[in-house]
Amino acid sequence: MGRLPFIAGNWKMHMTPAESATLAEDIAERVAGFHQVTVALFPTALSVPAVLSATRGTTLAIGIQEIEVVSQGAYTGSNSPTTARSMGCEYFLVGHSERRLRYCETDDRVAQRLRAGLDTGLLPVLCVGESLAERKAGTAEAVVCGQLQRALHAVAPDQMPSVTIAYEPVWAIGTGETATPKQAQDIHACIRAWLTETFGSSIAAATRLQYGGSVNAANAADLLSAPDIDGALVGGASLNPAAFTAIVTAAISA
Ligand code: PGA
Repeated sequence: MGRLPFIAGNWKMHMTPAESATLAEDIAERVAGFHQVTVALFPTALSVPAVLSATRGTTLAIGIQEIEVVSQGAYTGSNSPTTARSMGCEYFLVGHSERRLRYCETDDRVAQRLRAGLDTGLLPVLCVGESLAERKAGTAEAVVCGQLQRALHAVAPDQMPSVTIAYEPVWAIGTGETATPKQAQDIHACIRAWLTETFGSSIAAATRLQYGGSVNAANAADLLSAPDIDGALVGGASLNPAAFTAIVTAAISA
């Protein structure tokens, strides 16, 4: 089954709303003619309104980096999934290692956020990945499958077409050290095998799997040509419009 490539830019806590809108407009223009790919941007929550209005009517999808587990209430500082959806966000990130590590995000909370977003009609990009110590200990596959199990156990098979999974080895994020295409493909194959076992082969064959971790214009084509890598979640290089567009182009030609 052909899976539409999916390239997403995770802008983390970078840029003001005005800077974000300018970069989003630039990227929208560069990818305007590309239809055989999904391209999404994840600005900071504070920049979401500016980026949504800068990209209205373009092919770009916009996502929010973090959502709360409920749609409203006494949750100081949090982002409501319902509000994000009503503003025009289509996607959300969940389980990113920076949230897991810096904010003690547990698998349980990841699962709750995932369900809250799905119930609101937002599309999750679920991030999983092992640490360097776990890779050295030979437990990368077990760690990733454990994270999948705990995040997706309560997701119904009919909700799975909304889910994208991003494999992001923690040791490759923001470090300039990328997983080799073989290392990435091995884990992607293992994720697809886990999906087959859990949800059946047609859901496994249709689910888009992204690689994330120091993806750039130079290494994207090799990574994206691996059979189970359907796209990329791009941090640093997504702040550079030429580099990000080169990654989108690589995804289309992979
Ligand atoms: P990076 O970040 O491309 O800068 O390594 C990826 C991510 O955190 O999603």
